[in-house]
Amino acid sequence: MSCVRRLLLTSLFPALLLHGLGEGSALLHPDSRSHPRSLEKSAWRAFKESQCHHMLKHLHNGARITVQMPPAIEGHWVSTGCEVRSGPEFLTRSYRFYHNNTFKAYQFYYRGSRCASPTYTLVVRGKIRLRQASWIIRGGTEADYQLHRVQVICHSEAVAERLGQLVNHTCPGFVPAGGPWVPDMPYDLWREESGQECTRAVNFAMHELQLVRVEKQYLQHNLDRLVEELFLGDIHTDASQRMFYRPSSYQPPLQNAKHHDHACMACRIIHRSDEHRPPLLPPKAELTVGLHGEWVSQRCEVRPEVLFLTRHFIFHDNNHTWEGHYYHYSDPVCKHPTFSIYAKGRYSRGVHSARVMGGTEFVFKVNHMKVTPMDAATASLLNVFHGNECGAEGSWQVGVQQDVTHTNGCVALGIKLPHTEYEIFKMEQDVRGRYLLFNGQRPSDGSSPDRPEKRATSYQMPLVQCASSTPRPDDFSEDQREHPRWSRAPTRGPGPLLLAGLTCLWTLPAWNGLR
Ligand SMILES: *[C@@H]1O[C@H](CO)[C@@H](O)[C@H](O)[C@H]1NC(C)=O
Ligand SMILES: *[C@@H]1O[C@H](CO)[C@@H](O)[C@H](O)[C@H]1NC(C)=O
Ligand SMILES: *[C@@H]1O[C@H](CO)[C@@H](O)[C@H](O)[C@H]1NC(C)=O
Repeated sequence: MSCVRRLLLTSLFPALLLHGLGEGSALLHPDSRSHPRSLEKSAWRAFKESQCHHMLKHLHNGARITVQMPPAIEGHWVSTGCEVRSGPEFLTRSYRFYHNNTFKAYQFYYRGSRCASPTYTLVVRGKIRLRQASWIIRGGTEADYQLHRVQVICHSEAVAERLGQLVNHTCPGFVPAGGPWVPDMPYDLWREESGQECTRAVNFAMHELQLVRVEKQYLQHNLDRLVEELFLGDIHTDASQRMFYRPSSYQPPLQNAKHHDHACMACRIIHRSDEHRPPLLPPKAELTVGLHGEWVSQRCEVRPEVLFLTRHFIFHDNNHTWEGHYYHYSDPVCKHPTFSIYAKGRYSRGVHSARVMGGTEFVFKVNHMKVTPMDAATASLLNVFHGNECGAEGSWQVGVQQDVTHTNGCVALGIKLPHTEYEIFKMEQDVRGRYLLFNGQRPSDGSSPDRPEKRATSYQMPLVQCASSTPRPDDFSEDQREHPRWSRAPTRGPGPLLLAGLTCLWTLPAWNGLR
């Protein structure tokens, strides 16, 4: 596994626990706190830091989330919203796992990014067997699965006709003689008895079942508000590799239909749906991406190939600069730090993505970088490098930060400066009204999106806003005191609002030695 990937994992800095978010939500209810008129710049900064760092700290404590090992997956699990897979594909999922190890999984596909206009549904039946704890993805459990039957049901005449032709064309002889396909009728794409299959017509693979993790948490310390989440394996960012890819991180989690967050309306809608009544998610305002402010991870994030990290980004839309803190860890609850990176540079906002509905393109540049080894193994790895490859030769010490800009980055970490990344972003509000920022999924092959063609078509785990502004002189004028900026929604409208989620900027394979 490449180190690079590990690095990537680490990418943005402070992650917070979901729970931490509860506290953070005060940001969105400015009226609930009074803002002292005498607030000074330093106090302001301290306040914001405390918000963002508070969220991070909760994450670090990791206390209120428990990971079930081995995972109990029996039950009914549903998506919490419209999901985006590379391609892009827009879908919602509703998976049932039974006591006899069989499962029935619905994947509902849609025309657009709101999951309001269904095209077709896959009904997947099979058997799953949990294996051992994964030694690659700590905290995950490996599993094997076997498909018994895969069927497709189309939701409009046009889709039925097109898909019927596609399957007939992809697998000549597979479609029994007869007229064109019609809506609302199940057609087989895989039959175990006959051993015939044509799932490749819809680029279908169920390899996500090869990596499983179940988390339980109590929202707001309330024993009645149990939420159970099922994490399944990630999908390769290159759609053509999907069939051959064994997951090495996770997709956004499904929630247990019995123990979901009650604020999750999509969960209830998806729970009630089936192949004849696909879920129609309620319309949501499409938010203009406004990057300004500070954003942190919501959980300990996993990047392909064993990197655990939390991220904290600060965007200044007044001068189009950004700063990112990436805290890397060796364990799946982000307790044992290995190193952290501080990066900064410029960004520019592009157009709405023509390829990924709902996405906005950005370009990020990294010009400066500082590295802090946080454990002895990382410090000694960095000390192995000579000359001007990574900071001052042989000088690395645990907990001591060094600027590596003058050595053009750090060969040991696979980071070369200056670096440019082509990004895609979208913004949403969660069920509690907090702003979420999604940036592009890192390429599954460990490379970096350093050319426009490599721009992602799917997203990674969202960051949540922890401060909506950075201090500027006018923040302290009389009228601003009455309406502190940090308590407002991100600015929208004509100005360039940028939220970038930079994530990972490097590509070298040097990292293996570390773990
Ligand atoms: C497994 O359990 C489900 C749900 O109870 C049932 O529908 C299915 O027929 C069972 N399958 C086998 C092979 O026993
Ligand atoms: C499938 O394709 C063959 C050859 O192109 C054609 O003759 C046949 O009618 C098609 N079948 C269906 C059901 O569309
Ligand atoms: C950009 O603006 C921010 C906030 O006003 C400031 O802290 C930062 O130093 C500025 N960066 C540059 C390169 O001017």
